[in-house]
Amino acid sequence: MQNTDIVILAAGKGTRMQSTLPKVLHKLAGQPLLNHVITAANTVANARTLVVTGFAANQVEKALGASASVFVNQPQQLGTAHAVLSALPHLRDNARVLVLYGDVPLISPRTIQKMLDTVCADQMGLLTIELQDPTGYGRILRDADNNIEAIIEQKDASPEQLQIDEINTGVMALTSWQLNDWLPQIDNKNAQSEYYLTDLIAIARDNAVKVKSIKPESSIEVEGVNSRQQLSQLERAHQQKMAEALMESGTSLADPQRFDQRGELIAGTDNFIDINCIFEGKVTLGSNVNIGPNCIISDSVLGDGVEVKANTVIEDAVIGDGVILGPFARIRPGTVLAENSKVGNFVEIKKSTLGKGSKINHLSYVGDAQLGENVNIGAGTITCNYDGANKYKTQIGDNSFIGSNSTLVAPVTVAEQGFVGAGSTVTKDVETDTLAVARAKQRNIKGWQRPSKKKD
Ligand code: UD1
Ligand code: CA
Repeated sequence: MQNTDIVILAAGKGTRMQSTLPKVLHKLAGQPLLNHVITAANTVANARTLVVTGFAANQVEKALGASASVFVNQPQQLGTAHAVLSALPHLRDNARVLVLYGDVPLISPRTIQKMLDTVCADQMGLLTIELQDPTGYGRILRDADNNIEAIIEQKDASPEQLQIDEINTGVMALTSWQLNDWLPQIDNKNAQSEYYLTDLIAIARDNAVKVKSIKPESSIEVEGVNSRQQLSQLERAHQQKMAEALMESGTSLADPQRFDQRGELIAGTDNFIDINCIFEGKVTLGSNVNIGPNCIISDSVLGDGVEVKANTVIEDAVIGDGVILGPFARIRPGTVLAENSKVGNFVEIKKSTLGKGSKINHLSYVGDAQLGENVNIGAGTITCNYDGANKYKTQIGDNSFIGSNSTLVAPVTVAEQGFVGAGSTVTKDVETDTLAVARAKQRNIKGWQRPSKKKD
């Protein structure tokens, strides 16, 4: 199969963002704009991605290092043709070349493929679209036979040409040898004194190469980000699309306008997601999962029938079938909750395992702990896992009971069927079928006189 080199232009500063961060590093759905483009580009077989950087090049390269294959520096931004010219020495002989833009994040793999399919010896591809308001874009000029003959930039167009509503999205596909031959012919004699990549279209025509137009499936694929307003609009449009895909696959959303997916979400069927939930990284939901309002779930797996009540935060955890969580639970990285276990309000769990059917219903901190099956942790229990220097483990065997307001000073073990009396500070291991009580004895002082208020 023919090689494909994908050149992504990302050298501009993005002045209208009013930001010290380069525009292409601003985030959409939790990822830098440029990342979306690189991800789409990487879906093409035998493709190499070249990113042209300029403004804050080091910062961009550091942020995206692993995902792109080559970075090319364009220290001065003299125009889009000049940007592609900078990448020219890195293009492979006889490769198909696709030009994409770092600030046009939602181009789809299908459109990319359609563009590449147009490329052959006597044909190139151009992605165009009709817009109700074409202001600012380059316009597509067609001849009497409706063939594309040139692109005219807004600033160079006549009043009649400004009436044309078919615009250049900027995305084009051609061969590396065509770019080698044609790019050096482009000058900067135009209203902006820039080297325009769009001049390639007229040159192609002069060389009897037909320019075939491809249309995107949706306009959000070709919308660019120039301002924070546009970024927020594109974010909502993108979220709407993902919400629709999720509903199509069998998950109900209380309100698709109040749903945010910032990564990959894999879901079974008959799930329900209430308003204002955020899904980050890779999240997998089983079926019949119910997620209450205002939950944040990152990089986690939730089994079938899990119920997550309002305002619960789950990060990097595995939640078994039938688990009930929250409201107001915080599940931190490394937590594994076995099936039918229960975690209630104001409970924080970190790097701990909870066996089948175990319960931590209220106000507790459990860290670096291993709990067996059917363990009951009373309200206000704390595993003291840190001595100010090192972390230690707590082990609690099957069917144990930890009374309310206990502190378990790790390293410590409560064996199976162990029982800890409320208010205990447990520093020594507790054996099977043993009750540990470690609290001051109660004294009752009879006839006790309350202090009375002093007169001054
Ligand atoms: C360009 C097209 C225009 C099209 C529009 C679509 C040209 C001459 N015009 O116009 O026909 O309708 O895109 O959005 O191509 N860049 C570099 N190096 C440079 C110049 C630009 O990397 O030297 C990058 C920018 O960072 C940006 C992209 O290329 O991401 C487009 O450049 P920009 O100057 O914004 O082009 P437009 O004027 O919008
Ligand atoms: Ca420009």
